[in-house]
Amino acid sequence: MRKTVAEVLEAKEGEEVELLGWIWNKREHGKLIFVDLRDGTGLVQVAAKAGTTDQESLELLRHLGRESAVKVRGLVARDPRAPFGLEVRCLRAEKISESIGDFPLRKGMGAKALYDLRHLHIRSPKLAALMRIRSNFIWAVHEFFRSRGFVEVHCPTFITAAVEGGATLFEVNYFGRKVYLTQSVQFYQEAAIYALGKVYSVQPSFRAEKSRTPRHLTEFWHVEAEMAHADLETLLRTIEDLVRYAVIRTAELSERELKFLGRKIRVEEVEGPFYRIRYSEALDLLRRKGRELPWGSDFGAEEEKIVSSEFERPVFVTHYPKEAKAFYHKVDQEDRRVTLSADLLAPRGNGEIVGSGVRTDDLEELLQRIRENGLNPEDYAWYIDLRKYGSVPHAGFGMGVERVLKWILDLPSVRVAALFPRTPSRTYP
Ligand code: 4AD
Ligand code: MG
Repeated sequence: MRKTVAEVLEAKEGEEVELLGWIWNKREHGKLIFVDLRDGTGLVQVAAKAGTTDQESLELLRHLGRESAVKVRGLVARDPRAPFGLEVRCLRAEKISESIGDFPLRKGMGAKALYDLRHLHIRSPKLAALMRIRSNFIWAVHEFFRSRGFVEVHCPTFITAAVEGGATLFEVNYFGRKVYLTQSVQFYQEAAIYALGKVYSVQPSFRAEKSRTPRHLTEFWHVEAEMAHADLETLLRTIEDLVRYAVIRTAELSERELKFLGRKIRVEEVEGPFYRIRYSEALDLLRRKGRELPWGSDFGAEEEKIVSSEFERPVFVTHYPKEAKAFYHKVDQEDRRVTLSADLLAPRGNGEIVGSGVRTDDLEELLQRIRENGLNPEDYAWYIDLRKYGSVPHAGFGMGVERVLKWILDLPSVRVAALFPRTPSRTYP
């Protein structure tokens, strides 16, 4: 009869259950004590009163403060007045451990104070529900890749050369040598496709971006994949299928959490085909919206917002100019000013959630692109090596987990989607 809160919410009227949880809130109405009891799975109302609950337990519940840990035994009762239409009528309560002093979270606290107390704030049933949805999303991502024959790989975090440009590298003192934290595992995945064909990974990436925006973390979780023998069309279709599957599946898996949060995932935003426009068309669109940008410059948050607001479903912006993209992007043979690259922008002004492209697979061309970008080929020796032995056309992408969650859950910032967010000003707790 020991049950989780989630199981209790499904239990039958009159069933006797035992719960292990924490007192999230307590209300006393005369002789009645209502406890909002939470565990890892949800929140349920426990009602204690003389007659049903034994005297010792009543006194205990009256005395215990917020976040004290308790064991409760009681009977399940349907009651339309209770949250979720159900409560547990307490027969007996036992203390597991008592909170020492007042629990420091209070209503109306500001964001900074709450992030300072993140180690306690994550107990809030709302945040816990968000973290369960995040877990479901990652699960869905794994399901997708496994069903498509991708092999999961785990790549190093310490690296010696930039993937996404030097400006956003975090330096680490590695036994007196300078190394960096990875910005993307792409290069390792490019090595791995020659061993495994199609690979993916889910791991953190690091960016020393001082930008304090609702879209940037210094440490974010990155879903990346790389495919041998893939062209731009295969790449775009794979990304589209992944995003569609993961969003719809997350909604399915998270029904209870979404109901608890009073939120909906707008699955209609991913059901239809995603839009595709070229960089040059996006420039025209921006010009029509009053934003003039010279050809070749990359889009910032503002430009992405304007473009993505024009579409009710995600939109791929493809064929970015060479100068707007990293050296590894393959140049389009039909128009050598542009690359076979694509960013996926999420609707409602959410902006970029996926960065992707076909890779330069020719040795000479890669060397030339490295030099053009003012980089030293020696720093990329092993990466260049990959073009010497059976090089094939290949493509891949990276998707920011917190960016997708911000979009589908309508969060004010990517920070909310991280258990312990890392930003330029925050490495604690
Ligand atoms: O567009 P990015 O920089 O692409 C790459 O890193 C490629 N090497 C990936 C690949 O092809 N394997 O980053 C990919 C995605 C972005 O679209 C965004 O969703 C997320 O990573 N991202 C961030 N998310 C949160 N905070 C940041 N500072 C982010 N920087 C990138
Ligand atoms: Mg990008």
